[in-house]
Amino acid sequence: MPSDSNAASKTTASEIETVALVSPPASVHTALAADQTNQPVANQPGPHPPLRLGSMASGSGSNFEAIAAAISAGELNATIELVIYNNPQAKVAERAARLHIPAELLDHRTFANREALDDAITDRFRAYNVTWVIMAGWMRRVTERLLSAFPHRILNIHPSLLPSFPGIRAVEQALNAGVKITGCSVHFVELIVDSGPIVMQAAVPILPGDSIETLQARIQRQEHVIFPRAIALAAQQISASPTPTPQTNTPQTNSA
Ligand code: GRF
Repeated sequence: MPSDSNAASKTTASEIETVALVSPPASVHTALAADQTNQPVANQPGPHPPLRLGSMASGSGSNFEAIAAAISAGELNATIELVIYNNPQAKVAERAARLHIPAELLDHRTFANREALDDAITDRFRAYNVTWVIMAGWMRRVTERLLSAFPHRILNIHPSLLPSFPGIRAVEQALNAGVKITGCSVHFVELIVDSGPIVMQAAVPILPGDSIETLQARIQRQEHVIFPRAIALAAQQISASPTPTPQTNTPQTNSA
């Protein structure tokens, strides 16, 4: 790797460490209480500049709609500029139409490879001047192309307490493992799936007789609470750092 890339990754690590530390253990306990009492979690992120969000979704879009609702309620200082979905049947398109938010289909099957899809996503988000990317149920792996276009500004939600149960069928994995508490995590996106620094988590107890469906429903209720808050929290930390220069998608050469 060229030496300037190494310098960039050192900066990244220190920024990220700060973000990871601002999710105090207390928020997990409060979120656990929230699941039992139906009360919202208590910790409130501070102010941050307005965000122009680009959302990526493959399915129902309930998290997308929860973020839109938080914006409408004045709980998140942002706008959703564009939703990209990759599956023609995705219900998120209907939700976006109802909310008058632009939605565009980029069907992954029509692209030569993952990089080509990520380049197209980047182009569309740049056309809408998107500053933060929110993966709300996006079921595709992303590549360095998207990561380098929005450095430290891509968040994902995952239905487990990471680093436990990454990857697909996380709710089923937790049930099969016999754990008593699972939950959901909002984290920065890195190349390895579900591996990036964690911004916020909520715990959800597994109850006797829980099925995948009943547990998933309770986890999703917590996802809808923490995702907008985690976006604000991440933005508050990261937006204070210099705005990244958008990178072109030209191949890098190794000058070493
Ligand atoms: C969520 O449960 C999220 O954790 C996972 O995909 C699901 C998306 O749900 N990554 P929805 O489309 O937001 O309803």
